[in-house]
Amino acid sequence: MKDLPKVFISEPINAKGMEMLQGKADIVIAPDTRKETALALIGKADAAILRATTIFDKEVIGEGVNLKTIVRTGIGVDNVDLKFAGEKGIYVCNTPGTNDETVAEHAVAMILACAKQIILMDKAVRNQQWKERFSPKQIDIRNKTVGIIGYGHIGLATAHFCRCLGMQVIAYDPFISQAGLDTCFTNDIEVIFAKSDFVSLHCPSTPLTHKFIGTQYLNLMKKTAYLINTSRGELIDEPALVTALAENRIAGAALDVFKEEPLAADSPLLHFPNVILSPHVAGSTKESNERIAIAAAQAVLDTFNGQVPLNICNLDYLPEAQKLKQFA
Ligand SMILES: NC(=O)c1ccc[n+]([C@@H]2O[C@H](COP(=O)([O-])OP(=O)(O)OC[C@H]3O[C@@H](n4cnc5c(N)ncnc54)[C@H](O)[C@@H]3O)[C@@H](O)[C@H]2O)c1
Repeated sequence: MKDLPKVFISEPINAKGMEMLQGKADIVIAPDTRKETALALIGKADAAILRATTIFDKEVIGEGVNLKTIVRTGIGVDNVDLKFAGEKGIYVCNTPGTNDETVAEHAVAMILACAKQIILMDKAVRNQQWKERFSPKQIDIRNKTVGIIGYGHIGLATAHFCRCLGMQVIAYDPFISQAGLDTCFTNDIEVIFAKSDFVSLHCPSTPLTHKFIGTQYLNLMKKTAYLINTSRGELIDEPALVTALAENRIAGAALDVFKEEPLAADSPLLHFPNVILSPHVAGSTKESNERIAIAAAQAVLDTFNGQVPLNICNLDYLPEAQKLKQFA
């Protein structure tokens, strides 16, 4: 009997995706997300399905001599060397449209949790501090301004939800046309920081956006404003944020993503009561995980069936013949 093609999976995916692969692929699930583990297991794989944590750099991709496709569940492909994979003729795909609104809901949940002081109020009740109700720190969000940085799929969905809650939206995105958009756009990122009650980050991690939210912009924020990050930890200069929080220069922050994940046990961010944290889960719900797993499994099956998978992120780097194949 012919051997089944092999798929390396860095972290378990939803059962629906696994069901699609059963009987069509020999599945290897990594016991952990370490690079050494990927290096040890990738050699025989024809395809790989990754989440955000496992790094697929030159070394790992180079070891994957049979690799034809790498699928990143979700959107951010910053953990994969797109150029090197492309030059080796390996498709790198993602699964857009599977969790845009899921992340936007999380961003809005964080905005509401900050405004309504949900974590502190919960603690107050548990600690018998009922008197908290007599000097409210909570604020309304109606008529407050949310500044969206990065107006792609998730930024747009977040803006929509915020408008439904009666908020004003302003947005900054240097790469999209402003024509026909009903949001108040600005070409000046400083306006976002100066005017917003909540600044919500929705742009990718690229060399240009690395640590770009630092002292310069944090100093422009209102003392009453919150910084929300459901995008990537690399966008924020974390020591600068810690200083801004320590000096009460902003009201607080809500962070789903961090420069280093998992967040280190000695991170100063853990000690601020006005910082709300979640473990990079903004894009993961029962429903979105199912949609993501189905899309990832389909990309792998398309590859095994000799078809070009959807949503290729490294088209620019692929050999010409492979580029053209997607239009065949
Ligand atoms: N926390 C999570 O679980 C989770 C899940 C999914 C996605 N994400 C993150 O959310 C990010 C956004 O996802 P998306 O689907 O909306 O992507 P997208 O590509 O649709 O939108 C990103 C937008 O950012 C803009 N942009 C790029 N550089 C910018 C800059 N310097 N300043 C302002 N805008 C800039 C782009 O023009 C684009 O419009 C992803 O890159 C990913 O890192 C996080």
